[in-house]
Amino acid sequence: MTQDLSPIEKAKLVASKRAVDFVESGMKVGLGTGSTAAWMVRCLGERVHREGLRIKGVPTSSRTADLAREVGIEVISLDEAKWLDLTIDGTDEFDPELNLIKGGGGAHLWEKIVATASDRMVVIADVSKQVEALGAFPLPVEVIPFGWQTTKALIEETLESLDVLGRECVLRGDHGAPFRTDEGNFIIDLHLKRIANPRRFSLVINQIPGVVENGLFIDICDAVVIGHGDGRVEVRDASSGEIEEGRIEIGDGDNLFTDISD
Ligand code: 5RP
Repeated sequence: MTQDLSPIEKAKLVASKRAVDFVESGMKVGLGTGSTAAWMVRCLGERVHREGLRIKGVPTSSRTADLAREVGIEVISLDEAKWLDLTIDGTDEFDPELNLIKGGGGAHLWEKIVATASDRMVVIADVSKQVEALGAFPLPVEVIPFGWQTTKALIEETLESLDVLGRECVLRGDHGAPFRTDEGNFIIDLHLKRIANPRRFSLVINQIPGVVENGLFIDICDAVVIGHGDGRVEVRDASSGEIEEGRIEIGDGDNLFTDISD
């Protein structure tokens, strides 16, 4: 029941409800991953049922694919879609330029490929994701399992020459084993505290053999929809800098929603 939601879940829900207004019938839509994106997928499913919205969804993870099918969204692969009208996804951090850190859920590789293949990327977030400088959230770096310890050592060596405040690198675990991405790869989380130049950082770290992709999204996000626990939403546009403010009422009709954990 939506009235039982915590303020943070309400914030994610109202951001999602506003963001799915950008979706029009006939669109091919990239579907993000994470607890915020899960709300968005449910909101889109609701529009498919209530309005007969015709869309094809390209999921950014196997778990989003499962949820999309469950709520009645037609799922196609990125290769079938070739190019997308819009991607809507969550984030772990966004800065004033709308550059992002993503990959807390371990899906940033597919997320970056899908967002880059879209005319527009809209990010949905609660206000806690807003930062002045990226890096407090550990930066996920996807690496192939072959020689991962050598790759980690090379990342640590490379960090010595980069302008960051922390340099601890940790292999992400999952119940005593390494966490595996949808591609079967590992993730090394970089505890950087503050990244002075995210654009340069991203280019340098991706040069290391064994690194597949990092979670920095530079110049990819076009707008962010920020939700608040009291129903307020702000839409910030990256290119114009314009901010639209509004409010989303959560009504009885939203009672099909249940608290989503990811
Ligand atoms: C997954 C992601 C997510 O978008 C990010 O971790 C935010 O997740 P949540 O909405 O659960 O806070 O990048 O790889």
